Parts: sequence; structure tokens; C-alpha cells
Amino acid sequence: MREQLIAQFKEIFGDEGEIRTYFAPGRVNLIGEHTDYNGGHVFPCALTIGTYAIARKREDNKLRFYSVNFETLGVIESTLDDLTPSQQAGWTNYPKGVMWAFEGRGYKLPTGLDMLIYGNIPNGSGLSSSASLEVLTGVVLKDMFGFDVSMVDIALIGQYSENNFNGCNCGIMDQFASAMGKKDHAIFLDTNTLKYEYAPVVLKDAKIVIINSKVKHSLVDSAYNDRRNECETALKELQKVVNIQTLGDLTEEEFEAHKDAIQDPVRVKRAKHAVYENQRAIKAVKALKENDVETFGKLMNASHVSLRDDYEVSCEEIDILVDLAWETEGVIGSRITGGGFGGCTVSIVKNDAVDHFISTIGSTYKEKVGHEAEFYVVDIGDGARVLA
Ligand code: GLA
Repeated sequence: MREQLIAQFKEIFGDEGEIRTYFAPGRVNLIGEHTDYNGGHVFPCALTIGTYAIARKREDNKLRFYSVNFETLGVIESTLDDLTPSQQAGWTNYPKGVMWAFEGRGYKLPTGLDMLIYGNIPNGSGLSSSASLEVLTGVVLKDMFGFDVSMVDIALIGQYSENNFNGCNCGIMDQFASAMGKKDHAIFLDTNTLKYEYAPVVLKDAKIVIINSKVKHSLVDSAYNDRRNECETALKELQKVVNIQTLGDLTEEEFEAHKDAIQDPVRVKRAKHAVYENQRAIKAVKALKENDVETFGKLMNASHVSLRDDYEVSCEEIDILVDLAWETEGVIGSRITGGGFGGCTVSIVKNDAVDHFISTIGSTYKEKVGHEAEFYVVDIGDGARVLA
């Protein structure tokens, strides 16, 4: 694949100069959903699918971008003097946002770049194609210009650019997973302190299976930002009666004791999810370390119920997939993963049940919804890197 992309790069941008290649993965979150902007824990892992870049420094300040995924758009040109978001910049707002964020931190880009991008994360699937493109750009800039930034910095810069250049108020999970992923491990990250630990995902006789519902409901970003605002208001209400910095500081019992301070029943549900989900993530990682995959699966199921009923970020198609998984033999746990309102589910399925899982859920989903779902039996890969 690398060779093919390099050949395409040369065809489009010419073959002189030093051409380098890079990769940043997508992610799947196993548990700890909508906790990362509430000071809680998350437990994502990097995938082996992601976004590739072939890049070369220029001698002027031009930026030339080409995406193999959007061939009809052709080469999209800009310059380093124009690092402002715009509609016509389309997907290039992601790399440009990261360049803008680097410059904002004092890392002045000495020259422009030619960049060819190819991603094999299904579009709009909630497996973090945009975060992978941000982290990828960070790795390109660090490598090309020798900036002294750590991979954690690259994740933070990616999140900053998404928040302030691209208008989605996301947390740190996706960029962190893409930058810091480790083969066969998930990352147990405390989003309040950014302390993290790698936990081996050893499922012995089971596999992680992602199902892409192939639906993405509109208003995802605004609904996401609404949830975030509701949690912030609930936190302020709770802070009047209890000394906490984030919702992640509360145990379930503490939340129950103080929840009456929250003035609105919808906000009570949102905050309840944030508190309980954080505790579930902590318990799930403990269970995994003790090889108790059954408990891990039960916590995943409870996570889904909470995201569906209290946080209200699921949708009909996703609930169909999760209900079908729960009914299928050999399924240890199943839930929605990512921001919600469509996208993917993640399930842990016994090895000998995977084929049956895919065929029965595949055909029933098609009957009920009218289009096919896609299934990926997942490998956990390493974080973003220079390929050569
Ligand atoms: C999106 C955001 C993340 C996180 C998840 C929900 O993926 O980008 O920061 O909030 O939703 O857990």
C-alpha cells in the first residue's frame, strides 16, 4: 500500500525531493464513554486501520493537499498565510487546524508542504478518522521540522485544533488513543490528570468485534456540545453542595447523596451517566486485570443502557445491533462506542461464536433496517508513527 501511495504522490506532486510516509490509527473505546470531558476515565485502544500521509517539504509557503478518499476534489491549495477555517477548505480544515495550533504554540512552520492522504477508516463510523488525521499531521510536522513535541503534546494540539478551529468541543480520548496506542493493549487514561497505564487486552478465547451501523444522524456535533454543556451546568450545581473539581471526582454513593442540588431532571440523568460510567470504567479495567472477562462484559452492557437511557446518545439502529448481540450466544458484552447517534457498536464475542454472530446479526439487521451493517474483527495496533 505504501509503495502505491508513494507512486500516486509522485504522479500528482512530482518526484523530486525527500518524500516521507506516516501513519496514525483510528480507535475503538472499550468502556468509559462521554467521561473524557467530565474528568473521568476512558479505556480506548488504537486500531490497525487509520490514516496514511505521504509528505514532502516545499521551498515556498504553499500547502497542497490531495486525498485518495476524495479524488474528485483534486488538489486543494492554500498557504501558511491562510490558516483560517473555511467551508471550501473541506477536509483540509483538519490538517490546517493542526498547523494553526502548532503556530499558536510558537512552532512556526518554516515552509509549506505537499501532502497526500489516504484513510481506511470507514467515513463517519465513529472510529475517529478526524482525530487520526489531526494526530497524523502532528507527527508529520514534528518529523519534518524537528519540533520538540511529545506524542501527548501532539494529542493535546490535535484536540485543541478540533475544539478551536473545527468547532467540535471533543475531549482528549480520540487523539490520545491515536497518538499513544500500543499493540495488543488498551489505554486506561485518567482524563483529569492525563496519567495513563497500558492494560494488555488478553481475551484468550474471545475477540473484539466492531459493527458499523452505517448510519450517522445529523446534528451530531451540536448534540455532543449540548451534552457537554449539560454536564458543565450540573457540575456547577453540585459544586454548591460538595467540594469537587469534576464529575469524575464522585462515587456513585456521593452522587446519590448530592444529586438533588441539580435543578433539572435531564441534567440529573446526564450527570448520573458521567459519574456511573467513570466508576464502571475503573471496575472494568480491574476485572480485565483479574482475567474476569465476564464482569467486563456485564459492565459494557450496563454502559450501553446508561448511554441509551440516561445520556440519550444512542439511536434505533444502534439499539437494534446491541439488542441482537445481547440475544446471541457467545457474546460476553456489547455496547455503543464513540460519540453516538449512529456509528459503531463494540462487542466481545467468543471465538467459536464469531461466524454465527456475523451471519445472524448481519441478516437480521438488514431485514429490520433495510441496509447492511459492516463487521470488523479487530486487531489492536500501535499509535501514530513515521513509517519511513
Ligand atoms: C467523541 C469525542 C471524544 C469522546 C467520545 C465519547 O469520540 O471525540 O472526546 O467524548 O465522543 O466518549
